[in-house]
Formats: sequence, structure tokens, C-alpha cells
Amino acid sequence: MDLIHRALLTALGAVSVFYALVKISLGYWKRRGILHEKPKFLWGNIKGVVNGKRHAQDALREIYAAYKGKAPFVGFYACLKPFILVLDLKLVHQIIFTDAGHFTSRGLYSNPSGEPLSANLLQLDGHKWRSLHAKSAEVFTPTNMHKLLPTLTQISARIQCDLGKENQQTRNISELVGVYSMDVMASMAFGLGGQDHQEFAKWTRNYWGGFKLWQAYLALEFPLIARLLQYKSYAEPAMAYFQKVALSQMQEHRRRDRQPLQTFLQLYSNADQPLDDVKIAAQAFGFLLAGLGPLKATLGFCLYELARHPELQDRCRLEIRKTLEQHSGQVTPECLRELKFTKQVLNETLRLHTPYPFLLRRATKEFELSGSVFVIARGNSVLIPTAAIHRDPEVYEEPERFDPDRFEEEAKRSRPPAAFLPFGDGLRGCIAARFAEQQLLVGLVALLKDHRYAPCAETTIPMEYDNRRLLLMPKSDIKLSVERVD
Ligand code: HEM
Ligand SMILES: *[C@@H]1O[C@H](CO)[C@@H](O)[C@H](O)[C@H]1NC(C)=O
Ligand SMILES: *[C@@H]1O[C@H](CO)[C@@H](O)[C@H](O)[C@H]1NC(C)=O
Repeated sequence: MDLIHRALLTALGAVSVFYALVKISLGYWKRRGILHEKPKFLWGNIKGVVNGKRHAQDALREIYAAYKGKAPFVGFYACLKPFILVLDLKLVHQIIFTDAGHFTSRGLYSNPSGEPLSANLLQLDGHKWRSLHAKSAEVFTPTNMHKLLPTLTQISARIQCDLGKENQQTRNISELVGVYSMDVMASMAFGLGGQDHQEFAKWTRNYWGGFKLWQAYLALEFPLIARLLQYKSYAEPAMAYFQKVALSQMQEHRRRDRQPLQTFLQLYSNADQPLDDVKIAAQAFGFLLAGLGPLKATLGFCLYELARHPELQDRCRLEIRKTLEQHSGQVTPECLRELKFTKQVLNETLRLHTPYPFLLRRATKEFELSGSVFVIARGNSVLIPTAAIHRDPEVYEEPERFDPDRFEEEAKRSRPPAAFLPFGDGLRGCIAARFAEQQLLVGLVALLKDHRYAPCAETTIPMEYDNRRLLLMPKSDIKLSVERVD
């Protein structure tokens, strides 16, 4: 009897402590006196997101729409974790550009000693990030990106082999653009030539470890403890594989002695004071982590929109064919520069289907908003809801309509500076934005030059997104009918 009694009391005690902790966590914005969305017990303001009922971007968009104009930012909770959601485009501009020095961190978890590949540009913060960023800026120069173009073009040739000469066919577009994007990452980030990347492909699908929601929460809130407990974000065999590949490719390259620059690995190891090899391998993994998903998603979304808008698709194809003709069929930097309309189509794709639906910053110093009583405290996590901004009817008229003309010079100038941020910007913006654009364009040239795309019975319209991911991905594979044009 006594035992049961004690067990009951302990359980009651534990529940009370848990309840009190949750209540204290969810009282943060109230104690700060900051406008906020009232949280629900445990889930805060993202209830449907945790169980996959809706996408994170929709939850953010709802809060954005409800509070925009009422304050420069609003507080909300992702489960128990308080976040600031920025509502005012001027404040977005300050955080990203003018006062970026207050917001150099992202606050993601990394564990460099236990998991060396997590020491990458995306995950690191503080002085480690700063010196790495300086090194990486030497790698991602326009000149270097142009040097990668011939290899990119070579890789893109496989798209046309894949599509072949068959007259009309239903194709799994997700697969087609997925293979291209993976070939590019295998080659550019890891130095793997050739085409058969089966093992690489396997590990790109399976690198997430068994990180549970509560572990992820602990790692974000208490990184020191998580590192002490040696939390690992990724599956160990996958990390071992990626590290092995990167290191052996670098050694191979040194043995062969200075081949022309064709990969990020080489660009890093040819720098004046190169990083050590494992740190370079970490960057390769970071590029895969940050870049593969959005690249294939963007190409897929783009073909989907072009299939639904045949007149825009014809305009792209005409532009591509004419430009190639003027450059004797060669995809050169000049040639890409002239693909003006195709670039507008790409940007409109990134606006309507923003692969990273929000940007994340952590305040490294207290930030007082000029001319107001509001303060962003040191350590606060800040979300910039880019996808919501990209579909804000006060910024983009009829936001659900796909209309590349929004990216004509005149129209662009009429919008506020922070109205379009698919790659983020400023100090912590996407370091590979230029490279990504180049790769997307090269892919589109190969895809559109000789083939036409149209919706078919298996095309899901309207587009549905995968709610279980923070990055924007189609829920089911994109299928289109493909036809060769002469
Ligand atoms: C369509 C393709 C891509 C999109 C839309 C995209 C978008 C983004 C965004 C929104 C961020 C966060 C920026 C911020 O917080 O302000 C980011 C960061 C980053 N991206 Fe990309 N990205 C793409 C492709 C790539 C590729 C191909 C690579 C690598 C080759 C890459 C490497 C990185 C890295 C390393 C960071 C972290 C930079 C830092 O924190 O210093 N991205 N990207
Ligand atoms: C389409 O391709 C993807 C990626 O390779 C694959 O996972 C999926 O099973 C394919 N879907 C269909 C229905 O063929
Ligand atoms: C597309 O967007 C990028 C910013 O991500 C911008 O630098 C570029 O000029 C835009 N291009 C066009 C044609 O609008």
C-alpha cells in the first residue's frame, strides 16, 4: 500500500513539475509584455504542424496575416519555444542588412567534436562561422562559379539522354530533376565524376538519424547539455560514408596534381590557407544538406508551372533556342546572362513556391527598434516569414497567380527592398545563390530546349506540399506528359 502511495505521489509530483515548466515556458511573451498569439498547452501555436495536418508555412502565414500592421513583430510559440515573427518589411531589412551584426547566428544545433560534418557553414554560429564564412567567400566568387559551368553543362546533357527521342510519354519529373540535382551535388560538392551514384544516392536519402522531437527541442534550447550527452543529428554510417568520399576525392586530386578547378572541394583546398581536410568535408556535407532539396524542388515546381502555362513555356523555349543559336550552341556565362525571361520565370517560381519558407536568426545582442518601445532580447529566435511575404496581396497583387512579368525591372523597382528573399540575403544569406541560379538555368536549358511539358491525368493540381518537412517539397511526385519538339 505504502509503495503504491509513494509511487502515486511521485507521479503526481512529476506531472506538476512538468505542468509548471510548460506554463512558465508558455508565459514568456506575456511576462515580456509583447503582443503575441495565445498559445495552446504543449503545442504553442503550431498544433497542426506537429502532427502533419498542415505545413509550417501556412501556420506562419496565418499569424502574419492576423497581426501585420499591428506591430513590427509578434511573439508566438513553436511547441514550447518562443519565437519572434517579423511583420514589418522595414524591420526585415534591418535584421538582414543594416543591423545584421546583431543577428549573425541562426541557433541551429551542431556538435563538431562528436559529429565533425555538422561543423558546416549552415549549422555553425559565432567565431567558428565567421572565419569559415570568410574562407567560403573566397570560394563562391563569380569567377570561380563560371569555372564550374562546363562541368555543369556536361552533367545536364544526361537530362536529354534520359528524355530520349520517344514521342510522347508520361514522366516522373521529380525523378528526372532529382537525378540531375544529385549528379550536380555528387560532382561539385564531393568530386564524384561519372553518372552512377547509387551509393551516394542511397545515403542522401538516409542521413537523418533517429532525432526525436523532444531531443531536437533539447538540442535547440540547451545545446551545451546536448553536446555533453553527445546528441547526434545524423546517422553515423551516412556521415562515415560522406567523410570517406570527400577525403578520398581530395587525396586523389592531390595525387593527380592540379587538374582544372571543377569542384568546391578543390576550390577550398586551393585557397591560400586551406582548411584541414575534415573541415572541407564538412562543407561538402553542408552543401548537400542546404542545397540538394531546394534545387530539385525548384526545378520540379518550375516545370509544373510551365506545364500549366504553355504560352510562358513557349516563350522560354524560344528565348533559350535563340540565345543558344547566337552562342553557337554553347552554354556560356554570357548566354546565361541573356536568358532574361527564363530568369523571371525562375524567380516567379521561387516566389510562389519558396523552398525555404522562412529565414531564421538568433539575436546575438539586444536590439532596440528605432522610434518604438520594442526590444528584441539577446538570445531571442527570430523568424522572417518569406513565404508569407511572397504571397502578401499588399506586396504582390493576386499573389496566387503565376506571372513572371512581376520580375520586369519596372515592377521590381516598385516593391520594397525586402519583398523577395528566396535565398535570404546579407551576412547569412545563401552563399551559393549565384551558383544555384546558374545550375537551375543550365538545368532548364537542357529540359526545355527540345521538349514540351503538359499536365496529364496523373498531375496533382493544385500543388500539394509535404507537411512533414520544413522545406517546401511536393507531397507526391510531379508527373507530366513530355513530348519532343523539333
Ligand atoms: C534553389 C536553390 C537554393 C535555395 C532557394 C537556397 C536558399 C537558402 C536560404 C533561404 C538560406 C538561408 C539564408 C538566410 O538565412 O538568410 C540558405 C543558406 C545556405 N545555402 Fe542555400 N539555397 C539553395 C541552394 C544552395 C546550394 C546549391 C548550396 C550549396 C552548393 C547552398 C548552400 C547554402 C549554405 C552553405 C547556406 C548557409 C550560409 C550561412 O549560414 O552562412 N544553397 N540557402
Ligand atoms: C518517382 O521518382 C521518385 C524519385 O526517384 C521515386 O521515389 C518514386 O517512387 C517515383 N514515383 C513513381 C510513382 O514512379
Ligand atoms: C531574381 O532574383 C534575384 C534575387 O534572388 C535577383 O538578384 C535577380 O536580379 C532576379 N532576376 C530577375 C530577372 O528578376
